[in-house]
This record gives sequence, structure tokens and C-alpha cells, in this order.
Amino acid sequence: MTDRQLSDLALDARNHAYTPYSNFKVGAALLCADGTVFTGCNVENAAYGSTICAERVALVKAVSEGYRDFAAIAIAGSGEDFCWPCGSCRQMLCEFAPGLRVLAVRQDGQFEAATLDALLPHAFGPAALN
Ligand code: THU
Repeated sequence: MTDRQLSDLALDARNHAYTPYSNFKVGAALLCADGTVFTGCNVENAAYGSTICAERVALVKAVSEGYRDFAAIAIAGSGEDFCWPCGSCRQMLCEFAPGLRVLAVRQDGQFEAATLDALLPHAFGPAALN
């Protein structure tokens, strides 16, 4: 799976986004260590705070299917700019993959890459509870 392919899956996943309130559609594609990909989209709710982001949909789909080893995630938004994950998504992803490769994808398909530990320095993780 190339970065380009993963980015394209994230762009496609936006088609299922349910966004009657923000109209900001986000798609995510989470690549597992074995090559399996789980996609997600944002799903909004009339009780706005109950909205879930695309990245967390992809993550909980994967974990609920028994996948916990992740290599990369691509995130595609609807704006002109690159779509980086929000703080809650960074925290949730960090639980399983602090070194995750993150691809922020723009509408035109261009993307930028970073590692999750660069996006969430000094993270609070499982080790903090030992
Ligand atoms: N959103 C995501 O899906 N992922 C992010 O990382 C940032 C925000 C969604 C949530 C909401 O449906 C819309 O984008 C506007 O905030």
C-alpha cells in the first residue's frame, strides 16, 4: 500500500460522511501492520458533541475487529488546506500507535506526512498509569 493509495482511500471515504451541520466531510484510511485497511468518515449528530471524527471511526472499526498494530493513517478533509487530526483523534491513535505515520491529505490529493509523536509531544499514554 503506497501513500498515494492510502490517501486515495481517505478521499473516497469522505463520500459516506454524514455532515448535515458542518458540511465538512472528512475521510480516513487506517493501514494495519498486516496491510489491512479500515476506512472511516465523520458522523455528526443533532447533539453536536456526540459527533465522531473520521479517524476515530476508522480506529474503533479496526480495534473492534481485533486489529491493534497500525502503520499509517491518511486523513482527507474538504478544505483547501491539509487536514491534520484533531486533538482527541491524536490522543486515541496514540494509545495504540505513538509512532504512527500520519498523512494529511488536501482535496486536490496532495499530502504532507508527519509522525504522531511529533503531532502529540509528551503524550499521556498507557505507561503513565503503571
Ligand atoms: N473532523 C474530523 O472528522 N476529523 C478531524 O480530525 C477534525 C474534525 C470532523 C468533525 C466534524 O464533523 C467536522 O469535521 C467539523 O469539525
